[in-house]
Amino acid sequence: MKFEGMLKDNALQGKTILITGGGTGLGKSIGKYCVELGANLIITSRRQEVLDETAQEFSEIGDGEVLAISSDVRKVEDVERVIKTSLDKFGTIDSVLNNAAGNFIAPTERLTPKAFDVVVDIVLKGTYNYSLLLGQHWIKEKQAASILNIVTTYAWTGSAFVAPSAAAKGGVLALTRSLAAEWAKYNIRCNAIAPGPFPTKGAWDRLFPKPISTFINFEKSLPLKRYGNHQELANLAAYLLSDYAGYFNGEVVTIDGGEWIHNAGEFNKLERVPKALWGLIERATRGKKKK
Ligand code: HXC
Ligand code: NAP
Repeated sequence: MKFEGMLKDNALQGKTILITGGGTGLGKSIGKYCVELGANLIITSRRQEVLDETAQEFSEIGDGEVLAISSDVRKVEDVERVIKTSLDKFGTIDSVLNNAAGNFIAPTERLTPKAFDVVVDIVLKGTYNYSLLLGQHWIKEKQAASILNIVTTYAWTGSAFVAPSAAAKGGVLALTRSLAAEWAKYNIRCNAIAPGPFPTKGAWDRLFPKPISTFINFEKSLPLKRYGNHQELANLAAYLLSDYAGYFNGEVVTIDGGEWIHNAGEFNKLERVPKALWGLIERATRGKKKK
């Protein structure tokens, strides 16, 4: 397995990429690789101290400059401020990676309307706030640009115990395809990545907390028997953000080691049948020709 950067040196030189939720987890790993490839970066999320720490780490890596601005993706005035500050500093923004999210596991009947709101607002409203305001700017400036959204595979399958997140990610998926169709004429592409499980503190604290992780070995249940490595995701994201992916539009790329297909196939669970039993099963299932 190769967990290393795969794009050419300087593949993102001259690009300015805005990453929501870029101070931690997957946003941080993707951002780090973008900086290594020469991009300028804007990272934004609610906690300035986390962003500053990440920006400091990034400043020691590549040639690209990093701007760290705290903001809440749910608030239009924050989004306007981030875009304005970024344009003042860099002149242009070439891509946005809508990555910020909120999530936690809970039986849906235990949720208050506010609990639903908080997740849907961060994920769906946050994504359309950035997409809309940047899209309007790009259209006005006649600038080619791209939007890359992070969804997940339950955007189309749905999932128990994360209903607000599934509803919001489903919305982001529909938005991805809608904007891809509508804004192609402005040379604005819109794609998404649907990651399977890639360990991060943010996700694991909220989705696999102790009582759950002690009686379910999630990693062992995966078809490849391992989680994704952040560099594998960063390679895909950087490619989709680069000019090499200029003909990708409206696409959702799944990177989950086959997890959702594995969970979906009617007979996939027959893997649990011991090999020795297949002889018996074959005898039971072979047609008996009438003489
Ligand atoms: C039930 C809960 C809850 C829980 C919060 N609430 N946690 N309800 N079970 N575990 C309710 C609260 O009671 C409140 O409703 C409402 O939600 C808002 O809660 P706050 O704590 O005030 O919200 P806030 O401080 O804004 O925090 C937002 C958050 C938090 C989403 C709840 O988890 C957060 O900040 N998350 C950001 C990072 C994150 O979630 N990362 C993971 C992404 S992973 P009431 O009515 O009581 O006031 C991901 C992976 C997908 O998406 C796929 C994996 C394979
Ligand atoms: P994470 O580290 O918790 O990332 C979420 C980020 O969003 C944090 O940096 C958080 O920072 C930011 N954020 C939350 N609310 C915000 C708000 N209102 N305004 C601005 N920023 C906000 O978790 P992650 O695992 O890396 O998740 C990143 C993305 O990958 C998410 O879209 C998630 O749904 C997706 N994903 C993850 C996995 C996985 O296995 N990890 C799988 C599939 C999809 P603050 O709290 O400081 O604001």
